[in-house]
Amino acid sequence: MNNFAETKPHAVLTPYPLQGHINPMLQLAKLLHLRGFYITFVNTEHNHKRLLNSMGPKAFDGFTDFDFKIIPEMNGDGDVSQDLQSLRESIRNNFINPFRELAARLDDSAKSGLIPPVTCLVSDSFMSVTIQVAEELALPVVLLVPSSACSFLSALHFRTLIEKGVIPLKDESYLTNGYLDAKVDWIPGLQNFRLKDLLAFIRTTNPNDLMIEFIIEVGDRFGRVSAILFNTCNDLESDVMNVLYSMFPSLYTIGPFASFLNQSPNDHLASLDSNLWKEDPKCFEWLDSKEPGSIVYVNFGSTTVMSLEKLLEFAWGLANSKKPFLWIIRPDLVIGGSVVFSSEFVNEISDRGLIVGWCQQEKVLKHPSIGGFLTHCGWNSTIESICGGVPVLCWPFFADQPTNCRYICKIWEIGIEIDSNVKRGEVEKLVNELMVGERGKKMREKINEMKKKVEEDTRPGGGSYMNLDRLIKEVLLKQN
Ligand code: UDX
Repeated sequence: MNNFAETKPHAVLTPYPLQGHINPMLQLAKLLHLRGFYITFVNTEHNHKRLLNSMGPKAFDGFTDFDFKIIPEMNGDGDVSQDLQSLRESIRNNFINPFRELAARLDDSAKSGLIPPVTCLVSDSFMSVTIQVAEELALPVVLLVPSSACSFLSALHFRTLIEKGVIPLKDESYLTNGYLDAKVDWIPGLQNFRLKDLLAFIRTTNPNDLMIEFIIEVGDRFGRVSAILFNTCNDLESDVMNVLYSMFPSLYTIGPFASFLNQSPNDHLASLDSNLWKEDPKCFEWLDSKEPGSIVYVNFGSTTVMSLEKLLEFAWGLANSKKPFLWIIRPDLVIGGSVVFSSEFVNEISDRGLIVGWCQQEKVLKHPSIGGFLTHCGWNSTIESICGGVPVLCWPFFADQPTNCRYICKIWEIGIEIDSNVKRGEVEKLVNELMVGERGKKMREKINEMKKKVEEDTRPGGGSYMNLDRLIKEVLLKQN
């Protein structure tokens, strides 16, 4: 057996197969790799093909001690951005056996001295099915929560929400009749929260809602894991973390990963990325030609969809604001088809708007010309905007986004919410407020203070930095 194979710890990382989950898992994989781990990163076959298609056939070649493995095609994981329910069911029912077989193949390779033996599993919290394999192999298993700690805390109370008769909602009218404005003052750690600020999965009238069942099932599994990880830092969500620390003995805040990586020399990993859509190279040349702080960046992440009607309200709001903007319109952003703008709109924005299909968001948010971000408040987008020091306009769509939005607007005060029934006049007004108004200026100052704090947290001696050290020592390298 090869000596190297005997000594290196080997972590198998399994993201949930969506962009907003693959990205933080890959960042964590890089962090562990930089701390001396051999990495096996597990993608579904469907996503692996998409990644190679968007980033080139050699995207994953040539990385030492960093390998990619594939779980064969599972029913239902085809159209990931539109069909989240069947993706979840497919993982729940069809993932465990191929994952077990992969673990056996890794064991064979380790016995042949080709790779180090697997020493720990790190899975997305939505991939908690992998706990079973960790138990069979007597390996430590760590779950990464890719969303905010505040949304995680709200998910832990779903059973109580059912007991209290809050969910399911009595009928559809409860979505709009003011019911969701009711205060939630019985969840310690969440201050001034309303029902509408909790995970959006509560907005169901179905007594057998599978998402609710899934969230409760995942919550019940946390008692079986070696540790729970958050891509956040104590400074960002201290009230929530204090409550969570009292509930779970082995919990580590080790984020923001992006800030960590910005400060760690990792040039040999720089080309290792995880874009499921092909990046448009025009963005940076265009941004380089613009004044500092002048550009509104608009991106609704990887899963948000909207009607053409709403998209046009955003479009005309941006155009009428007269501010230059970079807008990422994913090919599947609009429900039921692609977008063709009128020549009137195209002429109107020709000197100041760039619209493309996908960009390297993290890099864009660090570009000096970006002055504000219109976002759906996905957790990755939220922390990437903090790392870039860019204040936001919020248009939360679903899942944890309303919870993140509440934090952004009311607790951190680094953003302003746009009404869900978006209108062009409001977009125009708020874009101006964000970019050149007093409120925008104050939010910019606040987010820059937060940026400094998270940088401190992820530097040697900082909270997240020390937590990562502790996680490795206390959990990942611990012998069973
Ligand atoms: C989903 C959920 O919606 C989100 O709320 C949850 O916390 C994670 O999973 P998504 O909607 O895609 O994710 O939002 P977000 O969390 O912001 O993640 C999107 C990721 O894709 C970010 O890391 C962002 O940088 C990246 N991205 C998005 C790009 O690199 N380029 C793009 O053009 C768009």
